[in-house]
Amino acid sequence: MSTHIAAAPGQIAPVVLFPGDPLRAKWIAETFLDGAELYSETRGMLGFTGAWQGHRVSVQGSGMGQPSMSIYANELFTEYGVQTIVRVGSCGGLTEKVGMRDIIIASGACTDSGINRVRFHGQDYAPVADFPLLRAAVEAAESEPLDVAVHVGLLFSSDQFYSTRPELTEPLVQHGALGVEMETSALYTLAAYHDRRALSICTVSDHLVTGEETSAHEREQTFGDMVRIALRAATA
Ligand code: HPA
Repeated sequence: MSTHIAAAPGQIAPVVLFPGDPLRAKWIAETFLDGAELYSETRGMLGFTGAWQGHRVSVQGSGMGQPSMSIYANELFTEYGVQTIVRVGSCGGLTEKVGMRDIIIASGACTDSGINRVRFHGQDYAPVADFPLLRAAVEAAESEPLDVAVHVGLLFSSDQFYSTRPELTEPLVQHGALGVEMETSALYTLAAYHDRRALSICTVSDHLVTGEETSAHEREQTFGDMVRIALRAATA
């Protein structure tokens, strides 16, 4: 049992899918895993372990934002020996290059967070995905019959969902940022620090250029494509 996860050692698999929403973790466990068992519901942040195509896999909710996600990622790496974390999340589209429901596989992440400024004494660190995981996700996406486009590129991990300075995002978009979410920069940084593997895959659930939003039903459908890509990459 760690500070925020009520699992016994060995109850969590070396491979973890990591959605922000704990109810999404439940949905993934019930929809994709055989014999899924709940190992923690501390603070309602549900975690399950089951099997996918014979591979032991866990699904753990991370909560929203880098501070919450970092608590769970740190404990998964240090207390449970987790080797591979694949975030399966949603993001806002930042450019017309990406459409609603498209999938973004994050090769790297920018951030406005102070976390890495403190960690690296004001220097700029470039948080990047684990390359073999990234390659496996791209290969999985190319071999799935998908209705949506898959992009590989930068996410912007913001500390604010309700930004009061949206104009600050413009230079990031001019330099290639495709989507905005709130976790990937810290996840990639922690995986590097602990010498583990991490990848972030996000579905575009709303669009900051066009103002479009997806319905809950649509989110569920497209989330399924993303989860299949994540499971195949994580267990490759
Ligand atoms: N901003 C931040 N995080 C998000 C968004 C957004 O627009 N959509 C989904 N996650």
